[in-house]
Amino acid sequence: MTADSAAVLASEARALTAEAVSALEVASSVAELTAARPDLLGRGSPLTGLRRRLGALAPEDRPLAGRALSEALATVESRYDARLEELRAAERRRQLEAERLDLTELPEPPQVGRLHVITQTLQRLEDVFSAMGYTVAEGPEIETEWHNFGALNFPPGHPARDMYDTLYVDHGPPGSTLLRTHTSPVQVRVMVNQPPPLYVVAPGRCYRQDTADATHMPVFHQIEGLVVDDGITLGDLAGAIETFTTAYFGPGFTSRLRPSYFPFTEPSAEFDVQRPDGTWLELGGCGVVHPSVLEVCGVDPERWSGFAFGFGIDRLAMLRYGIGDLRDLWTNDVRFLEQF
Ligand code: DAH
Repeated sequence: MTADSAAVLASEARALTAEAVSALEVASSVAELTAARPDLLGRGSPLTGLRRRLGALAPEDRPLAGRALSEALATVESRYDARLEELRAAERRRQLEAERLDLTELPEPPQVGRLHVITQTLQRLEDVFSAMGYTVAEGPEIETEWHNFGALNFPPGHPARDMYDTLYVDHGPPGSTLLRTHTSPVQVRVMVNQPPPLYVVAPGRCYRQDTADATHMPVFHQIEGLVVDDGITLGDLAGAIETFTTAYFGPGFTSRLRPSYFPFTEPSAEFDVQRPDGTWLELGGCGVVHPSVLEVCGVDPERWSGFAFGFGIDRLAMLRYGIGDLRDLWTNDVRFLEQF
């Protein structure tokens, strides 16, 4: 049997090292790598087996061959540790990746709706009048001829009825039911149902036969005011209109009353609001409640007096928000509506 030489042992050690290193590079998981450890570095591994052949070497060859073997084992050991660390890191990364919550791809924020610009205007008006001590009343949009005209001192055939291009409803005797042409019938309903003192506003939809254009719509909104109390005069009316004007429009705005005619008030007036630039805006009608209206609604005109006012809301909103065409309020184009 040929005696081993240090050179032979060293070269075998190099070959086994290369084999072991490529085996541990191939391992693709921590489990696979640790399972291979006994074959690469354990007692029964080929590299360790070389040690047993050291004894057969010439004594002077042993240190050299021993060092070569130790170095081979150290190389495999350190490559093993490095590969183990590498595989552990990769596995941690994979796990984090799998458990990651992707916060960069949140769903689109929901489109939040808003109140229609007319509703916003109505609510703002209600707020201003509530602060002035008024409560809010409502009445039906389909009215009787009596509430809309008769009780308000428009007798049948009265020429003032012609100012209201009334839409009649096919219900009951002809001409007895209609779409309310103004919010004034709510005055009647309030007085019939509640005893004075009364401080109410009544906002709502009104209807008139009208062709839609930039400044007219067959459906529009008004707000009505009614006060009935002890010794109410025209002065109280002017004061209330002025208080409302500054509260709603702001400081720098004032109001004036101009004589006018309405069957249900005496005296009657139109009220205008003056803007800070000096220009006037015609807002609505008002007056001292006619004694026969009080009477027909069951309020004693000897005991109580009152004032009333009413004005359109759509034109108010147009002015306030710079809207050029009333029809835009009805077409429900979100690009228009979301501006307000
Ligand atoms: N109802 C009237 C209209 O639509 C406006 C009006 C005028 C209301 C005088 C009132 C008032 O309360 O006193 O033309």
